[in-house]
Amino acid sequence: MSLEKLNQALVQEVAALKAEGRAKSPERIIVDYIAPRDGRGPRYKLQGSDQEFIRMNSNSYLSLSNHPALIAAADEATHRFGVGPGAVRFIDGTYHYHVDLEARIARFVNKPAAKIFNSAYTANLALALTINTPRTYWIGDELNHNCIIRAMRISSVARENKAIYKHNKMEELAQHLGEIPASAERVVVIFDGIFSMRGDYAPIDQIERLCAPRRGQVHDGIITVVDDSHGIGAYGATGRGTPEFTAAEPDVIVGTFGKAFGVNGGFIAGSVELIEAVRQKADTYIYTNPLSVADCAAAIKAIDIADSSEGRQRLSDLKARTQQFRDGVAALGMESIPGPHPVVPVLVRDTAKTHRMVQRLYEKGILVVGLTFPVVPKGDETMRFQINAAHTAQDIEYVLEVLGEAK
Ligand SMILES: Cc1ncc(COP(=O)(O)O)c(C=O)c1O
Repeated sequence: MSLEKLNQALVQEVAALKAEGRAKSPERIIVDYIAPRDGRGPRYKLQGSDQEFIRMNSNSYLSLSNHPALIAAADEATHRFGVGPGAVRFIDGTYHYHVDLEARIARFVNKPAAKIFNSAYTANLALALTINTPRTYWIGDELNHNCIIRAMRISSVARENKAIYKHNKMEELAQHLGEIPASAERVVVIFDGIFSMRGDYAPIDQIERLCAPRRGQVHDGIITVVDDSHGIGAYGATGRGTPEFTAAEPDVIVGTFGKAFGVNGGFIAGSVELIEAVRQKADTYIYTNPLSVADCAAAIKAIDIADSSEGRQRLSDLKARTQQFRDGVAALGMESIPGPHPVVPVLVRDTAKTHRMVQRLYEKGILVVGLTFPVVPKGDETMRFQINAAHTAQDIEYVLEVLGEAK
Protein backbone atom coordinates (compact mmCIF):
# COMPACT_ATOMS: atom_id res chain seq x y z
CA MET A 1 0.00 0.00 0.00
CA SER A 2 2.67 2.45 0.96
CA LEU A 3 4.24 2.10 -2.51
CA GLU A 4 1.04 3.02 -4.31
CA LYS A 5 1.93 6.65 -5.07
CA LEU A 6 5.51 5.86 -5.91
CA ASN A 7 4.37 3.04 -8.20
CA GLN A 8 2.09 5.42 -10.07
CA ALA A 9 4.88 7.93 -10.51
CA LEU A 10 7.29 5.25 -11.69
CA VAL A 11 4.79 3.88 -14.20
CA GLN A 12 4.60 7.37 -15.69
CA GLU A 13 8.37 7.72 -15.77
CA VAL A 14 8.75 4.38 -17.56
CA ALA A 15 5.95 5.35 -19.96
CA ALA A 16 7.89 8.53 -20.75
CA LEU A 17 10.97 6.43 -21.53
CA LYS A 18 8.86 4.30 -23.85
CA ALA A 19 7.45 7.38 -25.56
CA GLU A 20 10.99 8.70 -26.12
CA GLY A 21 12.08 5.35 -27.56
CA ARG A 22 14.55 4.90 -24.69
CA ALA A 23 12.87 1.94 -22.98
CA LYS A 24 14.53 -1.48 -23.14
CA SER A 25 12.54 -4.26 -24.76
CA PRO A 26 11.58 -7.26 -22.65
CA GLU A 27 14.55 -9.51 -21.93
CA ARG A 28 14.91 -12.78 -23.79
CA ILE A 29 15.76 -15.65 -21.49
CA ILE A 30 18.40 -18.23 -22.40
CA VAL A 31 17.32 -21.68 -21.23
CA ASP A 32 19.82 -23.98 -22.93
CA TYR A 33 23.36 -24.06 -24.32
CA ILE A 34 24.20 -26.46 -27.13
CA ALA A 35 27.91 -27.15 -27.53
CA PRO A 36 29.58 -26.76 -30.95
CA ARG A 37 29.12 -29.74 -33.28
CA ASP A 38 29.26 -30.70 -36.98
CA GLY A 39 30.94 -27.51 -38.16
CA ARG A 40 28.56 -25.35 -36.16
CA GLY A 41 29.55 -23.12 -33.27
CA PRO A 42 27.60 -22.90 -30.01
CA ARG A 43 23.83 -22.47 -30.10
CA TYR A 44 21.38 -21.22 -27.52
CA LYS A 45 17.73 -21.90 -26.82
CA LEU A 46 15.43 -19.17 -25.62
CA GLN A 47 12.38 -19.47 -23.42
CA GLY A 48 9.24 -19.88 -25.50
CA SER A 49 11.02 -21.04 -28.66
CA ASP A 50 12.26 -24.36 -30.03
CA GLN A 51 14.72 -22.69 -32.33
CA GLU A 52 18.51 -22.86 -31.84
CA PHE A 53 20.10 -19.41 -32.01
CA ILE A 54 23.57 -18.21 -32.99
CA ARG A 55 24.63 -15.34 -30.75
CA MET A 56 26.07 -12.55 -32.85
CA ASN A 57 25.72 -10.21 -29.87
CA SER A 58 28.03 -11.72 -27.27
CA ASN A 59 31.13 -10.03 -25.85
CA SER A 60 32.70 -13.42 -25.16
CA TYR A 61 35.19 -12.80 -27.97
CA LEU A 62 37.52 -15.73 -27.23
CA SER A 63 34.57 -18.05 -26.51
CA LEU A 64 36.02 -19.12 -23.17
CA SER A 65 32.84 -19.08 -21.05
CA ASN A 66 32.15 -22.79 -21.56
CA HIS A 67 35.79 -23.88 -21.66
CA PRO A 68 36.19 -27.08 -19.58
CA ALA A 69 39.39 -25.78 -17.93
CA LEU A 70 37.61 -22.62 -16.70
CA ILE A 71 34.68 -24.63 -15.41
CA ALA A 72 37.05 -27.06 -13.65
CA ALA A 73 39.00 -24.18 -12.06
CA ALA A 74 35.78 -22.55 -10.82
CA ASP A 75 34.55 -25.90 -9.47
CA GLU A 76 37.77 -26.63 -7.63
CA ALA A 77 37.88 -23.18 -6.02
CA THR A 78 34.23 -23.47 -5.00
CA HIS A 79 34.72 -26.91 -3.50
CA ARG A 80 37.62 -25.65 -1.39
CA PHE A 81 36.28 -22.28 -0.27
CA GLY A 82 32.53 -22.17 -0.95
CA VAL A 83 30.44 -19.95 -3.16
CA GLY A 84 30.75 -16.59 -1.41
CA PRO A 85 33.53 -14.63 0.32
CA GLY A 86 31.59 -13.96 3.53
CA ALA A 87 32.91 -10.40 3.91
CA VAL A 88 34.44 -7.45 2.15
CA ARG A 89 38.13 -7.57 1.31
CA PHE A 90 39.48 -5.70 4.34
CA ILE A 91 37.45 -7.76 6.81
CA ASP A 92 39.14 -11.05 5.93
CA GLY A 93 37.22 -11.46 2.68
CA THR A 94 40.48 -11.68 0.71
CA TYR A 95 41.29 -15.17 -0.56
CA HIS A 96 44.45 -16.14 -2.36
CA TYR A 97 42.44 -16.30 -5.60
CA HIS A 98 41.82 -12.55 -5.37
CA VAL A 99 45.47 -11.63 -5.04
CA ASP A 100 46.50 -14.26 -7.59
CA LEU A 101 44.11 -12.76 -10.13
CA GLU A 102 45.43 -9.26 -9.37
CA ALA A 103 48.99 -10.40 -9.96
CA ARG A 104 48.02 -12.31 -13.11
CA ILE A 105 46.15 -9.47 -14.79
CA ALA A 106 48.86 -6.95 -13.84
CA ARG A 107 51.44 -9.21 -15.50
CA PHE A 108 49.22 -9.68 -18.57
CA VAL A 109 48.79 -5.95 -19.18
CA ASN A 110 52.37 -5.21 -18.13
CA LYS A 111 51.68 -2.97 -15.14
CA PRO A 112 53.24 -3.15 -11.67
CA ALA A 113 49.95 -3.73 -9.83
CA ALA A 114 46.19 -4.23 -10.19
CA LYS A 115 42.99 -4.30 -8.14
CA ILE A 116 39.95 -6.33 -9.06
CA PHE A 117 36.28 -5.38 -8.81
CA ASN A 118 32.87 -6.90 -9.40
CA SER A 119 32.79 -5.29 -12.83
CA ALA A 120 34.60 -2.81 -15.05
CA TYR A 121 31.73 -0.48 -14.29
CA THR A 122 32.56 -0.39 -10.58
CA ALA A 123 36.28 -0.28 -11.42
CA ASN A 124 35.76 3.01 -13.26
CA LEU A 125 33.78 4.40 -10.35
CA ALA A 126 36.60 3.33 -8.02
CA LEU A 127 39.23 5.05 -10.11
CA ALA A 128 37.37 8.34 -10.22
CA LEU A 129 36.56 8.19 -6.49
CA THR A 130 40.26 7.63 -5.81
CA ILE A 131 41.87 10.27 -7.98
CA ASN A 132 39.34 13.09 -8.29
CA THR A 133 39.85 16.25 -6.23
CA PRO A 134 38.14 19.66 -6.56
CA ARG A 135 41.16 20.69 -8.67
CA THR A 136 41.31 17.68 -10.99
CA TYR A 137 40.64 18.45 -14.64
CA TRP A 138 39.13 15.70 -16.81
CA ILE A 139 39.33 15.44 -20.58
CA GLY A 140 37.34 12.69 -22.32
CA ASP A 141 36.03 11.44 -25.66
CA GLU A 142 32.36 12.27 -26.33
CA LEU A 143 31.60 8.58 -26.94
CA ASN A 144 33.07 7.30 -23.68
CA HIS A 145 31.11 4.48 -22.09
CA ASN A 146 28.34 5.29 -19.65
CA CYS A 147 30.44 4.04 -16.71
CA ILE A 148 33.11 6.70 -17.30
CA ILE A 149 30.50 9.42 -17.54
CA ARG A 150 28.77 8.12 -14.43
CA ALA A 151 32.11 7.81 -12.62
CA MET A 152 32.80 11.50 -13.26
CA ARG A 153 29.34 12.43 -11.94
CA ILE A 154 29.56 10.24 -8.86
CA SER A 155 32.93 11.66 -7.95
CA SER A 156 31.43 15.16 -8.35
CA VAL A 157 33.51 16.47 -11.23
CA ALA A 158 32.30 20.06 -11.67
CA ARG A 159 31.25 21.32 -15.08
CA GLU A 160 34.21 23.72 -15.23
CA ASN A 161 36.58 20.84 -14.46
CA LYS A 162 35.92 18.86 -17.58
CA ALA A 163 36.28 19.06 -21.34
CA ILE A 164 34.89 16.68 -23.92
CA TYR A 165 36.41 16.26 -27.38
CA LYS A 166 34.55 15.02 -30.46
CA HIS A 167 35.04 11.32 -31.03
CA ASN A 168 38.71 10.63 -31.73
CA LYS A 169 39.28 14.26 -32.86
CA MET A 170 42.88 14.76 -31.85
CA GLU A 171 42.91 18.46 -32.80
CA GLU A 172 40.16 19.04 -30.23
CA LEU A 173 42.05 17.07 -27.60
CA ALA A 174 45.13 19.18 -28.36
CA GLN A 175 43.07 22.32 -27.95
CA HIS A 176 41.69 21.19 -24.59
CA LEU A 177 45.19 20.32 -23.43
CA GLY A 178 46.22 23.83 -24.34
CA GLU A 179 43.38 25.28 -22.27
CA ILE A 180 43.91 23.42 -18.99
CA PRO A 181 43.02 25.92 -16.24
CA ALA A 182 45.99 27.19 -14.24
CA SER A 183 44.17 26.07 -11.09
CA ALA A 184 44.26 22.40 -12.11
CA GLU A 185 46.52 20.30 -9.87
CA ARG A 186 46.11 17.09 -11.88
CA VAL A 187 44.69 16.18 -15.27
CA VAL A 188 43.06 12.92 -16.34
CA VAL A 189 42.69 12.14 -20.03
CA ILE A 190 40.23 9.25 -20.21
CA PHE A 191 38.84 7.27 -23.14
CA ASP A 192 37.52 3.88 -24.21
CA GLY A 193 40.11 1.72 -25.98
CA ILE A 194 37.52 0.17 -28.29
CA PHE A 195 34.27 2.08 -28.74
CA SER A 196 31.75 -0.68 -28.31
CA MET A 197 29.00 0.70 -30.54
CA ARG A 198 31.39 1.24 -33.44
CA GLY A 199 34.27 -1.22 -33.11
CA ASP A 200 36.80 1.55 -33.76
CA TYR A 201 39.65 2.38 -31.40
CA ALA A 202 41.29 5.30 -29.63
CA PRO A 203 44.62 6.32 -31.20
CA ILE A 204 46.41 5.98 -27.86
CA ASP A 205 49.83 6.58 -29.42
CA GLN A 206 48.66 9.99 -30.65
CA ILE A 207 46.99 10.78 -27.35
CA GLU A 208 50.23 9.98 -25.50
CA ARG A 209 52.23 12.16 -27.89
CA LEU A 210 49.88 15.10 -27.33
CA CYS A 211 50.01 14.75 -23.55
CA ALA A 212 53.77 14.19 -23.25
CA PRO A 213 55.07 17.77 -23.63
CA ARG A 214 52.54 19.16 -21.12
CA ARG A 215 52.90 16.60 -18.37
CA GLY A 216 55.42 18.65 -16.44
CA GLN A 217 53.22 21.76 -16.46
CA VAL A 218 50.64 20.31 -14.08
CA HIS A 219 51.48 19.74 -10.41
CA ASP A 220 50.50 16.04 -10.26
CA GLY A 221 50.95 15.53 -13.99
CA ILE A 222 48.65 14.45 -16.79
CA ILE A 223 47.61 10.83 -16.58
CA THR A 224 46.13 8.81 -19.40
CA VAL A 225 43.45 6.22 -18.61
CA VAL A 226 42.09 3.72 -21.11
CA ASP A 227 39.02 1.64 -20.42
CA ASP A 228 39.87 -1.23 -22.74
CA SER A 229 37.01 -3.52 -21.78
CA HIS A 230 36.40 -4.59 -25.37
CA GLY A 231 40.09 -4.67 -26.29
CA ILE A 232 41.91 -6.65 -23.61
CA GLY A 233 42.06 -10.29 -24.66
CA ALA A 234 40.59 -9.67 -28.09
CA TYR A 235 42.74 -7.07 -29.80
CA GLY A 236 46.40 -6.61 -30.67
CA ALA A 237 48.91 -9.23 -31.82
CA THR A 238 48.85 -11.10 -28.48
CA GLY A 239 45.47 -9.95 -27.16
CA ARG A 240 46.90 -7.23 -24.95
CA GLY A 241 44.35 -4.84 -26.31
CA THR A 242 44.37 -1.36 -27.77
CA PRO A 243 47.65 -0.31 -26.08
CA GLU A 244 49.36 -3.18 -27.90
CA PHE A 245 47.53 -2.45 -31.16
CA THR A 246 48.62 1.20 -31.07
CA ALA A 247 52.06 0.50 -29.54
CA ALA A 248 51.34 2.87 -26.67
CA GLU A 249 51.61 2.75 -22.89
CA PRO A 250 48.76 4.57 -21.16
CA ASP A 251 49.34 5.15 -17.44
CA VAL A 252 46.25 3.30 -16.25
CA ILE A 253 44.31 0.45 -17.83
CA VAL A 254 40.77 -0.41 -16.78
CA GLY A 255 39.24 -3.60 -18.12
CA THR A 256 36.84 -6.45 -17.60
CA PHE A 257 37.00 -10.20 -17.19
CA GLY A 258 33.45 -10.33 -18.55
CA LYS A 259 34.12 -9.98 -22.26
CA ALA A 260 37.06 -11.64 -24.08
CA PHE A 261 37.96 -13.64 -20.95
CA GLY A 262 34.41 -14.94 -20.73
CA VAL A 263 33.99 -14.70 -16.96
CA ASN A 264 32.98 -11.69 -14.85
CA GLY A 265 34.58 -8.85 -12.92
CA GLY A 266 36.74 -5.82 -13.66
CA PHE A 267 40.15 -4.41 -12.85
CA ILE A 268 42.31 -1.32 -12.63
CA ALA A 269 45.99 -1.79 -13.48
CA GLY A 270 48.65 0.86 -12.84
CA SER A 271 51.35 1.86 -10.39
CA VAL A 272 51.72 0.28 -6.94
CA GLU A 273 50.92 3.67 -5.35
CA LEU A 274 47.74 4.16 -7.36
CA ILE A 275 46.51 0.67 -6.53
CA GLU A 276 47.17 1.14 -2.82
CA ALA A 277 45.28 4.46 -2.97
CA VAL A 278 42.35 2.65 -4.63
CA ARG A 279 42.38 0.09 -1.81
CA GLN A 280 42.28 2.89 0.76
CA LYS A 281 39.87 5.30 -0.92
CA ALA A 282 37.50 3.65 -3.38
CA ASP A 283 34.05 2.94 -1.94
CA THR A 284 33.22 0.45 -4.70
CA TYR A 285 36.23 -1.56 -3.55
CA ILE A 286 35.97 -1.11 0.20
CA TYR A 287 32.29 -1.48 1.03
CA THR A 288 31.20 -4.36 -1.18
CA ASN A 289 31.90 -8.08 -1.29
CA PRO A 290 34.53 -9.11 -3.82
CA LEU A 291 34.13 -11.56 -6.70
CA SER A 292 33.61 -15.18 -5.73
CA VAL A 293 36.66 -17.43 -5.72
CA ALA A 294 35.01 -19.30 -8.62
CA ASP A 295 35.02 -16.16 -10.77
CA CYS A 296 38.65 -15.44 -9.83
CA ALA A 297 39.85 -18.99 -10.50
CA ALA A 298 38.07 -19.04 -13.86
CA ALA A 299 39.47 -15.60 -14.79
CA ILE A 300 43.04 -16.67 -13.93
CA LYS A 301 42.60 -19.73 -16.13
CA ALA A 302 41.14 -17.57 -18.90
CA ILE A 303 44.18 -15.26 -18.85
CA ASP A 304 46.53 -18.27 -18.80
CA ILE A 305 44.77 -19.66 -21.87
CA ALA A 306 44.67 -16.28 -23.63
CA ASP A 307 48.42 -16.09 -23.02
CA SER A 308 49.16 -19.57 -24.43
CA SER A 309 49.38 -21.12 -27.88
CA GLU A 310 45.71 -22.09 -27.52
CA GLY A 311 44.86 -18.44 -26.89
CA ARG A 312 46.85 -17.34 -29.93
CA GLN A 313 44.92 -19.88 -32.00
CA ARG A 314 41.62 -18.54 -30.67
CA LEU A 315 42.72 -14.99 -31.42
CA SER A 316 43.72 -15.99 -34.91
CA ASP A 317 40.36 -17.78 -35.46
CA LEU A 318 38.62 -14.66 -34.17
CA LYS A 319 40.53 -12.49 -36.63
CA ALA A 320 39.82 -14.86 -39.53
CA ARG A 321 36.08 -15.01 -38.80
CA THR A 322 35.96 -11.23 -38.30
CA GLN A 323 37.65 -10.69 -41.65
CA GLN A 324 35.31 -13.19 -43.31
CA PHE A 325 32.31 -11.32 -41.91
CA ARG A 326 33.66 -7.88 -42.78
CA ASP A 327 34.47 -9.01 -46.35
CA GLY A 328 30.99 -10.51 -46.67
CA VAL A 329 29.30 -7.32 -45.47
CA ALA A 330 31.31 -5.32 -48.02
CA ALA A 331 30.43 -7.81 -50.77
CA LEU A 332 26.74 -7.32 -49.95
CA GLY A 333 27.29 -3.61 -50.56
CA MET A 334 26.47 -2.79 -46.96
CA GLU A 335 28.15 -0.03 -45.02
CA SER A 336 30.35 -0.63 -41.97
CA ILE A 337 33.06 1.13 -39.96
CA PRO A 338 36.42 -0.28 -41.03
CA GLY A 339 38.88 -1.87 -38.64
CA PRO A 340 39.90 -5.30 -37.41
CA HIS A 341 37.88 -5.43 -34.18
CA PRO A 342 35.23 -8.19 -33.80
CA VAL A 343 32.56 -5.56 -33.16
CA VAL A 344 31.23 -5.03 -36.67
CA PRO A 345 28.52 -2.42 -37.10
CA VAL A 346 26.32 -2.60 -40.18
CA LEU A 347 24.90 0.84 -40.82
CA VAL A 348 21.30 0.68 -41.99
CA ARG A 349 20.53 4.40 -41.52
CA ASP A 350 16.80 3.82 -41.14
CA THR A 351 14.87 2.95 -37.97
CA ALA A 352 12.04 0.88 -39.44
CA LYS A 353 14.44 -1.02 -41.69
CA THR A 354 16.79 -1.74 -38.79
CA HIS A 355 13.92 -3.19 -36.72
CA ARG A 356 12.72 -5.22 -39.70
CA MET A 357 16.17 -6.66 -40.39
CA VAL A 358 16.84 -7.51 -36.73
CA GLN A 359 13.47 -9.29 -36.61
CA ARG A 360 14.19 -11.16 -39.84
CA LEU A 361 17.52 -12.39 -38.47
CA TYR A 362 15.81 -13.44 -35.25
CA GLU A 363 13.28 -15.50 -37.22
CA LYS A 364 16.24 -17.21 -38.88
CA GLY A 365 17.88 -18.04 -35.55
CA ILE A 366 20.37 -15.16 -35.34
CA LEU A 367 20.62 -12.85 -32.32
CA VAL A 368 21.88 -9.37 -33.13
CA VAL A 369 21.43 -5.91 -31.63
CA GLY A 370 19.67 -3.05 -33.41
CA LEU A 371 20.73 0.45 -32.38
CA THR A 372 18.26 3.19 -33.25
CA PHE A 373 17.57 6.78 -32.22
CA PRO A 374 17.96 8.01 -29.48
CA VAL A 375 20.68 5.45 -28.62
CA VAL A 376 22.46 6.56 -31.80
CA PRO A 377 21.89 9.86 -33.65
CA LYS A 378 19.14 9.90 -36.31
CA GLY A 379 20.58 8.59 -39.56
CA ASP A 380 23.14 6.36 -37.80
CA GLU A 381 20.77 3.43 -37.19
CA THR A 382 22.90 0.31 -36.99
CA MET A 383 22.92 -3.43 -36.46
CA ARG A 384 25.83 -4.42 -34.28
CA PHE A 385 27.38 -7.83 -34.91
CA GLN A 386 30.01 -9.33 -32.63
CA ILE A 387 32.22 -12.16 -33.78
CA ASN A 388 33.42 -14.81 -31.32
CA ALA A 389 36.27 -17.29 -31.77
CA ALA A 390 33.89 -20.27 -31.67
CA HIS A 391 31.83 -19.04 -34.61
CA THR A 392 32.67 -21.30 -37.54
CA ALA A 393 33.19 -20.31 -41.17
CA GLN A 394 29.85 -22.03 -41.82
CA ASP A 395 28.12 -19.94 -39.14
CA ILE A 396 29.44 -16.71 -40.65
CA GLU A 397 28.42 -17.82 -44.14
CA TYR A 398 24.90 -18.51 -42.87
CA VAL A 399 24.63 -15.13 -41.12
CA LEU A 400 25.81 -13.37 -44.29
CA GLU A 401 23.32 -15.29 -46.39
CA VAL A 402 20.43 -14.26 -44.12
CA LEU A 403 21.72 -10.69 -43.98
CA GLY A 404 21.76 -10.61 -47.77
CA GLU A 405 18.13 -11.78 -47.90
CA ALA A 406 17.04 -9.32 -45.20
CA LYS A 407 18.60 -6.17 -46.61
C1 LIG B 1 34.10 0.60 -22.23
C2 LIG B 1 33.31 -0.27 -21.32
N1 LIG B 1 33.55 -0.21 -20.00
C3 LIG B 1 32.88 -0.98 -19.13
C4 LIG B 1 31.91 -1.85 -19.56
C5 LIG B 1 31.18 -2.66 -18.54
O1 LIG B 1 31.89 -3.84 -18.23
P1 LIG B 1 31.41 -4.72 -17.02
O2 LIG B 1 30.30 -5.57 -17.51
O3 LIG B 1 32.59 -5.51 -16.57
O4 LIG B 1 30.96 -3.76 -15.96
C6 LIG B 1 31.64 -1.96 -20.92
C7 LIG B 1 30.65 -2.94 -21.39
O5 LIG B 1 29.62 -2.72 -21.86
C8 LIG B 1 32.33 -1.13 -21.82
O6 LIG B 1 32.07 -1.16 -23.12
